[in-house]
Amino acid sequence: MDPLLAWRPEFPILETCTYLVSHSLGAMPRRARAYLQHFADDWDHRGVRAWHEGWWQIGAATGNLLAPILGAAPNTITMHQNATVAQAIVASCFTFDAGRRKIVMQDLDFPTNHYLFEGCRRDGAEIVYVASNDSMTAPIDRLVDAIDDETVLVPLSLVLFRSGGLQDVRPVVEKAHRVGAHVCLDVYQAAGTVPVDLASLGVDFAVGGSVKWLCGGPGAGYLYVRPDVIARMRPSLVGWAGHASPFEFETGAVRYATGVERFQSGTPNVPALYAARAGYEIVGEIGVPAIRARSLELTRRLIEASRRHGWRRIAPPRCRRAPAEAARGARCAGA
Ligand SMILES: Cc1ncc(COP(=O)(O)O)c(C=O)c1O
Repeated sequence: MDPLLAWRPEFPILETCTYLVSHSLGAMPRRARAYLQHFADDWDHRGVRAWHEGWWQIGAATGNLLAPILGAAPNTITMHQNATVAQAIVASCFTFDAGRRKIVMQDLDFPTNHYLFEGCRRDGAEIVYVASNDSMTAPIDRLVDAIDDETVLVPLSLVLFRSGGLQDVRPVVEKAHRVGAHVCLDVYQAAGTVPVDLASLGVDFAVGGSVKWLCGGPGAGYLYVRPDVIARMRPSLVGWAGHASPFEFETGAVRYATGVERFQSGTPNVPALYAARAGYEIVGEIGVPAIRARSLELTRRLIEASRRHGWRRIAPPRCRRAPAEAARGARCAGA
């Protein structure tokens, strides 16, 4: 028996249905209910003392729980309402001056990424979209070619939300860095189901949320910033939790925290972060490589069965393997 099957009782909804929609909302882990109860008990019994007994630091603690799942060093992740807000903080780190004003993206990216970065036009940004041929796969080579020395930022997704296609982002990072641009990787559809190694990919920023394969529920978006990039960035979307000494209540311009806290805004979303812990713990305990291996096995079974029925497959037939996957001999979903 596959050892992963032993985890099924941890997800009560699996007793009532066949749950095939984690790309939209991952099943609730049993222990999420206990953590939410814990939150309510702390609020009820500890009152204001809860701030100093874990609540104020819950963003850092949650980010550090998530970090190994994303291949990130400790103290590189801040928690936010959602991936859109996390990207707004990234966008607020940049100006779009005459010489360097391009944001280069793919037309297949998730709509929120388009909407958010489109908003930078009013600050002088030029948005360059790289088109897909088939609405399923996005040509990486064309994206690499579109990045030039007028490019500020390249937001792209590790896994395309529309097709599940896994993108080879290394050439993008290499080209962007060669011309002095930054890369913001959206790992939302990858986190928890595809091994992600942010440190090795060398991206400047990464964003995502916990609703899907991380089974963390809503309200737990995250922003990763590469350790050597942190101190260089001065996000204008900042709040008192991003201040070096928030409880000194200094007014006027922000004096940024030296660490990753400078990307925080205001009061943390405490109940959402209690709930998210459950999914992160389970994914961390199982390990993403084991989840990926099982996912590939089931996908292969599905593809073979659909072939026998003569059904047309619309998932990408093949895509270039991310090097970390290639090293393990894994194949892309749909391959
Ligand atoms: C790849 C990707 N990016 C971003 C989002 C939206 O993120 P949020 O609602 O956390 O802002 C989604 C939601 O499905 C997504 O699939």
